[in-house]
Amino acid sequence: MKNMNKKRILTGDRPTGKLHLGHLVGSLQNRVKLQDEYEQFVMIADVQALTDNFENPQKVRDNLKELVLDYLAVGIDPAKTTILIQSQIPEIAELTVFYMNLVTLERVLRNPTVKDEIKQKGYGKNIPAGFAMYPVSQAADITAFAANLVPVGEDQLPMIEQTREIVRRFNSLYGETLVEPEALVGQVRRLPGTDGQSKMGKSLGNCIYISDDEKTVTKKVMGMYTDPARVHPTDPGNPDGNPVFIYHEVFNPDKAEVEDFKNRYREGKIGDVEIKKRLALVINQMLEPMRVRRSEFENKSEELHGILKTGTDKAREAAKATMVQVRKAMKIDYE
Ligand code: TRP
Repeated sequence: MKNMNKKRILTGDRPTGKLHLGHLVGSLQNRVKLQDEYEQFVMIADVQALTDNFENPQKVRDNLKELVLDYLAVGIDPAKTTILIQSQIPEIAELTVFYMNLVTLERVLRNPTVKDEIKQKGYGKNIPAGFAMYPVSQAADITAFAANLVPVGEDQLPMIEQTREIVRRFNSLYGETLVEPEALVGQVRRLPGTDGQSKMGKSLGNCIYISDDEKTVTKKVMGMYTDPARVHPTDPGNPDGNPVFIYHEVFNPDKAEVEDFKNRYREGKIGDVEIKKRLALVINQMLEPMRVRRSEFENKSEELHGILKTGTDKAREAAKATMVQVRKAMKIDYE
């Protein structure tokens, strides 16, 4: 049953690897914050993960549990948020087929995120059709649940735009049926990698994972890229655009300390080591309660299974309700 008082959220992730701090500030924090105010659905997008991992289904399967543990660790509460498995909702596949009529090939391939991925994966001219269509399937993910809001990282904005176009086209052709969603990006639009690259990304090897232990985090922070022009702690340094300072601004709750670090850095009165040590501590303090929650669930396979079963069943009902409307609008309701 749709909760009439609350607006809906739908968002999700591909189960292809562990979530990192970029995911945390880009989308996960919003999900935790908004799960009281909204009726929230969080999708484990295994079908989408298979679009570029269809030759390796075991990888997708193995990462599913890790993704659920990441969700629970950051504070997504299964009592408030419905966690579902995409492949178990056939209505999404059905909607995808209908939506494919409403987009052109040229349009899906113009999507900048898809373009980047095609380049990165080296598909050249041999782009698997399923992969090219994943933004259409993502529009089905979102609209199947009549979502109003989609908390995502910046790279997902083109998907939401594509979804809005499909919704408008559908509604103008078949009558007001679908809900047009809005995107919501996190406090930080794009978190740089530990190596100073503009983006933290699994394939770039520059991530701090939510599931990293204390030692790993400290090691990664101490090895972070910083002002390359600075050789001695007495050299004046540049904190602007420096990932160590960007992380301090994002994760260190003591804003006065961050300002003080910056000033002393500019004057050559503090070493990188001291600033990094403090950063490692701050990040570890933030991650510690998440580690505790993860360990609470880690060995409870049955409980995890129950969370996914309950969530997926509930989600299926919501998607079925949308399909009734869609079939009616498209004149394929033969009951
Ligand atoms: N494309 C998203 C990613 O790569 C995952 C995803 C699938 C998603 N379906 C979604 C995100 C629907 C938001 C809404 O991380």
